[in-house]
Amino acid sequence: MKIGAYYYPEQWPREQWVRDFDRMAAMGLQIVHMGEFAWGTLEPREGDYQLDWLNECIGLAAKRKMDVILCTPTAIIPAWMADKHHDVFLTGHRFGGRRHANHLQPFVQDYSRKIVGKLAEWFGGNKSVIGWQIDNELASNNEFDQSPTTHAAFRDWLRGKYGSMDRLNEAWGTRFWNTFYSDWSQILLPPNREPRYGNPHQCLDASRFWSHGFAQFVKLQADILKPKIGNRWITTNFMYMHPDCDPGDMAESLSLYSWDAYPATGWEKNPKDENYRIASPRFLGCMHDIMASYTGRWGLMELQPGTINWTGVPILVHPGAVRLWIWTAFAHGAEFVTTYRFRQPRFGMELFHHGLIEPDGVTPTPGGREFAQTTGEMHKLDLKRIPAIHSEMDPERTIGIVFDFDQYWYFLSLPQAKRWNVGDFLQRWYGAAMRLGLQVRMLHPNKPWPKDLKMIVAPALQMLDEALTKRLDEFAKAGGHLLLTARTGLMNRDGHLWEGPTAQPIIDMIGARIEAYDSLPEGAVGHVEVIDGGKHTWNIWGDLLYAEDGTKVLAKYTDQFYAGATAATQRKHGEGVVSYSGVFGDQSYHDLLMEKLVRQTKLTATSLPDRVCVYKRGPYTICLNYTDKSITAPAARGAKFVVGMSKIEPAGVAVWEEPATVAKA
Ligand code: GAL
Repeated sequence: MKIGAYYYPEQWPREQWVRDFDRMAAMGLQIVHMGEFAWGTLEPREGDYQLDWLNECIGLAAKRKMDVILCTPTAIIPAWMADKHHDVFLTGHRFGGRRHANHLQPFVQDYSRKIVGKLAEWFGGNKSVIGWQIDNELASNNEFDQSPTTHAAFRDWLRGKYGSMDRLNEAWGTRFWNTFYSDWSQILLPPNREPRYGNPHQCLDASRFWSHGFAQFVKLQADILKPKIGNRWITTNFMYMHPDCDPGDMAESLSLYSWDAYPATGWEKNPKDENYRIASPRFLGCMHDIMASYTGRWGLMELQPGTINWTGVPILVHPGAVRLWIWTAFAHGAEFVTTYRFRQPRFGMELFHHGLIEPDGVTPTPGGREFAQTTGEMHKLDLKRIPAIHSEMDPERTIGIVFDFDQYWYFLSLPQAKRWNVGDFLQRWYGAAMRLGLQVRMLHPNKPWPKDLKMIVAPALQMLDEALTKRLDEFAKAGGHLLLTARTGLMNRDGHLWEGPTAQPIIDMIGARIEAYDSLPEGAVGHVEVIDGGKHTWNIWGDLLYAEDGTKVLAKYTDQFYAGATAATQRKHGEGVVSYSGVFGDQSYHDLLMEKLVRQTKLTATSLPDRVCVYKRGPYTICLNYTDKSITAPAARGAKFVVGMSKIEPAGVAVWEEPATVAKA
């Protein structure tokens, strides 16, 4: 894994470039990321391409044996384009910001093709360039453009999807409120995803369409790069679960996935300890594994370097946390970690955003010192002995979790329980696996799943189609342990309920009926007891189940007027087992239930303390301490510590080789 930083040469006096590159090299940085947002400098007047400065900077990197990640600059258009085309902006935007141009406008696409073409021509074969980032953080900001071009593009997409008005009316349920469409021209893209008094099915398609639009824009750029860049990778940097941009839609264009992690926001309410300065390993791990799940190759593009400007709570991160986050990415198989940004800016919107170096250009920040320390430590590892992340999957220590981005949009539109948070629910199960020292493979409905998985968790797949139902069913029938959860199988892919019992497609699999559900007011607490386990609190969601004959009860509610009602079940299914948990509860509930099921499945599990993670990469064991207390590394006697030592400080890391591997090596 290589380590680096974003650098914006165009933001600094030219005479400082050499010094800045020298400092990068002195800190041990191996990658510099450039070109992002630089369209205004690369093409200051239409057709007047000025690429020399970038060429010079790539040369400065090459001289210092640093690799370069180049970015296409399309996230901010130059002023001349705005002058020439007043319809360039997305609704509500004007010049001066970013992510403001309508990528569906054919002229935006043409200009983009040209600038990307120039970059590819100049730098496609450059030996220092290792990969390309397309654009930056494609995002809707929860608003959809309302221009005639966009409405027309939406209609085209719908025509392609439904073919006829009748099919569209059916899918959108327009018999409700008599809102039938009789001509394509009547259809508009809603201004955002929320249906309010509109149509939830239309909003679902609006999200899908917006994501498709981004995917097309990425494809347009990738298609130009591909023939010019040999086997260098192409990526775009995603944000954590950003709606309206499904990473899976871009699979055709991207050879490597990457995301931007800002884990310590200061947004925790009433923290009881200082763990918020270290962030959550569940959050990071879950997203890292999602990134790894598409092509098997991933990188951490922007890693928070310390104090940031945009959360409104500029906390000082815990000493060691930045280093811990770098090692976490390594443990999850990242090919690189870069940070936004090398040097804190002196002006502009983000002038309070720290970097690795202070605005003076010479003084390292605490995060900068930790980056330098980690680049040094990384050299102590023999990276050649570490196989690609998915090729070292140990089926005895791995579970699968199905992640289907398509579900997310509908939950955002119609959450039913407003505190149902798709990411949090996913992380409840992910975190439960993490506590057991298990690795997680994120699975997608339409991609191959590894054959030797023994257990799969499918959290809240609300919309089920036949193919996915069959896949889940067959996994269990063939001997796997399938864990289904509340809010699974309620609807078809158009988001319509079944003309039948709740969760119709999974009723036979789970051997139980969902008779009712409950969601408590904020601040109210319900209790649920895992049989032969402890009592736990819940608040967000509880299904009340009726277990058929032959179905075991795994958990029961112990209070409310329905005390004694079933909350979780299990039954045999073919050669395998299907468990169902109807609860969105506190983490301890998910931890305990998962532990029970994992032990039953005979996976090799180790009960770890909360916020302590252990990973294996090749011959190395990595222990990450996300607590604000010291811990002892769970290393065998005779282990050889490569990084850190047996006593791991708060927010500390240790990496060691077990005695057997040391002997073999
Ligand atoms: C990211 C963005 C960067 C920078 C950063 C600040 O979301 O991609 O350009 O704005 O946030 O934390």
